[in-house]
This record gives sequence, structure tokens and C-alpha cells, in this order.
Amino acid sequence: MIAHSLENGEEQYVPWEDWVADESTVMTFGRLALQSGFLEDEELDAAVMEQEARRKKGHTSKLGQILVQRGSLTEEEVTRIFELQGTLGGHTELEGYDVIEQIGQGSMGRIYKARQLSMNRVVALKVLSPKLAMDSTYVKRFLRESRLAGKLRHENVVFVLDAGISNGVHYYVMEYVEGRTLKEILGFRKKLSEKELVRLALHMARALAHAHSNGVVHRDVKPSNIIVSNIRVPKLCDFGLAKDLNFDPSVTSAGTVLGTPLYISPEQIRGTGCDIRSDIYSLGATLYHCACGSAPFISSGGATVMLKHLTEEPTPIEQKAPGISEEMAETIHRMLSKEPDGRFQTPTELWRRLVPLAYGETATEVEVEELPDEPDILYKAKHKGRGKPKK
Ligand SMILES: Nc1ncnc2c1ncn2[C@@H]1O[C@H](COP(=O)(O)OP(=O)(O)O)[C@@H](O)[C@H]1O
Ligand SMILES: [Mg+2]
Repeated sequence: MIAHSLENGEEQYVPWEDWVADESTVMTFGRLALQSGFLEDEELDAAVMEQEARRKKGHTSKLGQILVQRGSLTEEEVTRIFELQGTLGGHTELEGYDVIEQIGQGSMGRIYKARQLSMNRVVALKVLSPKLAMDSTYVKRFLRESRLAGKLRHENVVFVLDAGISNGVHYYVMEYVEGRTLKEILGFRKKLSEKELVRLALHMARALAHAHSNGVVHRDVKPSNIIVSNIRVPKLCDFGLAKDLNFDPSVTSAGTVLGTPLYISPEQIRGTGCDIRSDIYSLGATLYHCACGSAPFISSGGATVMLKHLTEEPTPIEQKAPGISEEMAETIHRMLSKEPDGRFQTPTELWRRLVPLAYGETATEVEVEELPDEPDILYKAKHKGRGKPKK
């Protein structure tokens, strides 16, 4: 058995027997109770204080026992937390995986960086929250997410390797992408250059083209669902809201608004059904944010943002980002057309529009046709002697 420590920023592997578990890697009863949603912070704090007070008087009491006495937890909840602690807590990672650290926290669960012991490789694990795992609706949704993402295999889509259940914990395994989400990058860069913008758009158009050819609509394209690897390959992740068109061609969601207000398409807001053109809109909103430093519509309230998506035109990009070419600005505005018919109709059509922006007008249709399956479009273009992409 191998354990991990991160010292001086470098990952080291130390023999199991030498490993002293530190607080950050051990899932204590209290943390697990919080994560599971059984408990509020204040209730835990109060119970910890009481435990400490009792200890000072010479009494030792278990935290679970105190929480039950205080009425914060039921006996059943304590039992459930113990069960979970026996699976994800402390030294008990998922069977076959050694958890290194938590790298993300989402609506349905957590993302961990882990070592897959059988292959001795680093992977990312998405684990369904223990509390949600008690609800079969969420379990089904989680399984659907892993299977939909698992249908795809493309350089610009985070690759799903496997899915499983270990001691009652649902998880799926992905390639681990060393890098930063676009959201993080925008946090410190604010705006991207034209060259970066075109490159990002090309890669994401390819990711969507691949999803589209597999009948998948992502429905939640946004900066936090795009991870830019350290070798600068952007990858689409998080198929938590995705739909399989082969299975459900209508993709209506009447009554349910899906996606994030900042990047959501008008038809998703209306709940009148959406297709791949909805992903093109959300990608357009994402690119607009990258060009201008903020999403097309912002407001303190989600409802106002949604209303603006339905009724307002975004401020012209040239006003907010003078460094962006007229062609690129026009491309993004077209992606943001209120009516799906006004947008590029497929990701490939979008991609075809972007190629001359990246390589100049001389790139021919035949060459363009050849490019989609190549892993790195910029490399391929140079390789074909077409010169450097336009600055
Ligand atoms: N395969 C991965 N490699 C590296 N980081 C990842 C990976 N998958 C997810 N993450 C990180 O975890 C975050 C949440 O993952 P995501 O799948 O978007 O979950 P959620 O549905 O909770 O938004 C991402 O924004 C990213 O920071
Ligand atoms: Mg996400």
C-alpha cells in the first residue's frame, strides 16, 4: 500500500507504514456529517465545544453521541455517517484508488485527484455526494452523466475511463487534467487575446462537433466546465446536464430551467426544448466573457440575467474589447442570436468560420475538411506549411 504526501509542492510516495495521516486527508466524522448535509456548521461547532468542555471535566464523549443528545442528528444519521466513514473516511479510499487530494466541489459531489492502483496512474474521480446517493433520482442522474461522457472520446473532451460503486459510494473515473479551468484563468487574466480566443473557440467547436455527432447536447457550456491543460489544450467536462438525443430527441425540459444563468440559452430559459445550437449559444456567451472580461449579461439577480438573455442585445464586443477583430466579434454575436436559426447551425459550421480567422483566408475547404480529427489543429496547420496562425 502506498500513501501520498505533498511536500514543497512535489508529490512524494511514501510507504504506507511510514504514513502519518494528516487532517486534510482524513475524513473526520464531523466533516463527513457536514459534507453529507446532515449537519450545519453551527451545530457542529457547538457540539465540538461541548465535547471540549466535557473533556476538561474529565469525561470523554463521542461527537456523534453529543450530536444525538443535542438533537442535531438522529441515531440513523449517525449510523449512516459511520458507514460512509468506513468507505471514504481516513485511510479508506475507494477500493483500488488512493485519494491524493480534493480538487473540486460541485453540486452533486466532489472531485478528487487519485492514484489508480492497478494502473499506477493519476486519475480524477468524481464521487456522488453520500447524501444524494440515498436518493435514486440522483444516482440515476449520476450514472447517466458518466455514461453520456463515456460515449465520447476526443482530445477536447475530458475522457471518462470507468464508473463504479465501492462500498455504496458511486464514482466515475476520468483522465486527470493538470491545468486550470477557464473560470480560474479569467479570474486572474480578465480578458483573452484574439489569438487565444480563436484557438479556444476552435477547440470547443471541435468538442461540440464530436458531442453532436454522438447525439449529445451538453447544456452547461461555461468557463468552469472547460479545463485548459498545462499544454494548453482546452477540454470540455461535466456532462451533468447533458442529454442523449438518440434517446430523447425532443430534449424539452418544460418547467425546469437548466444551466447557469450567465451562459444559458434563451430556449433553455423558456424550456421549449434545446439542441446543439443551444451549446453554440452558451459557447458564444463564454467567448464573449473571454473577449470582454464579463459575461454578456450581468446583474445581481439570476432572473434579471435570464430576462436579458431573452430580450436584450449584448453590448457590441468592439465597444468592450477594441483589440478583437471585427470578424471574430461578428462570429461571437452570431453565436449569441436569440433565435437558434440565426446562429451557426452546427459546431462544424462554426468551426469552418473560425479556421480562416486562425489561418487566414487561404485555408481551403478541402484542408479544412481534413483537419477535424487531428489532435492539435494549430500543430497540423503549421505542419501543412500554412504558416503561423494570424496574430
Ligand atoms: N478530470 C478532471 N481533471 C482535473 N480537474 C477536474 C476534472 N474534472 C473536474 N475537475 C475540477 O472539478 C471541478 C468540478 O467538476 P465538474 O465536473 O464541473 O462538477 P460539477 O458538476 O460539480 O460542476 C471543475 O471545475 C474542475 O476544477
Ligand atoms: Mg461543473
